[in-house]
Amino acid sequence: MQSLVLFLFACSLAAAPAPVRVLIAYHSRTGNTEKMAAAIGEGAAAVVGVQVTLRKIAAVTNEEIVQADGIVLGTPVEWATLSAETKAFLDRIGQVLSKPAPPAFGEGRTAGVFCTAGTPSNGQELARLSAIAAFLALRFVIIGGVNDEGFGSLGPQAATAGKPPGPTARDLADARRFGERFARLTLQLRRQPLP
Ligand SMILES: Cc1cc2nc3c(=O)[nH]c(=O)nc-3n(C[C@H](O)[C@H](O)[C@H](O)COP(=O)(O)O)c2cc1C
Repeated sequence: MQSLVLFLFACSLAAAPAPVRVLIAYHSRTGNTEKMAAAIGEGAAAVVGVQVTLRKIAAVTNEEIVQADGIVLGTPVEWATLSAETKAFLDRIGQVLSKPAPPAFGEGRTAGVFCTAGTPSNGQELARLSAIAAFLALRFVIIGGVNDEGFGSLGPQAATAGKPPGPTARDLADARRFGERFARLTLQLRRQPLP
């Protein structure tokens, strides 16, 4: 009886598809971008079949980059664009994914971006578009968000210098919705990897 149970357990393990991995990597000095990252992680983790890794950029290992089916990258806006740390991480993704020959970089993988800034219209678009441009150069497939009016967006963002400071409940709800959408679409794309 015991061996039958073990056999059935082994069969179920063999039949279960490997989880699709979503890496949420972010830079955050004062915690605002980190809050958005956590909300995106909540949304992504709600999708069955997706394994979420939430990491500060400095803690991401090369193996996590290699294994990621999708990467969501978050940055504070600094001088109207990405922080230097976030730009350096994009360079690292390029380096790590150029190792196998011939370089396929992010072919068939997904990417998404988000940011926080102090005040509205003060670099959010440029920060996200710069990261999106880099991911496109790396051959990733970009997934954006959907705003409250139903239009597509570059990805979640928040202006954090309000009273009280930090992302609002609405910003965090947007981030959660993006996380779910990113994970669901990544799952669809990566369950049958491109040849
Ligand atoms: C060096 C530096 C430059 C910044 N430049 C901008 C900027 O150009 N536009 C803006 O709206 N906020 C700017 N900010 C504010 C941050 O983007 C904002 O506080 C953000 O939410 C910080 O995110 P964090 O808490 O994850 O570090 C800057 C902050 C710092 C430290």
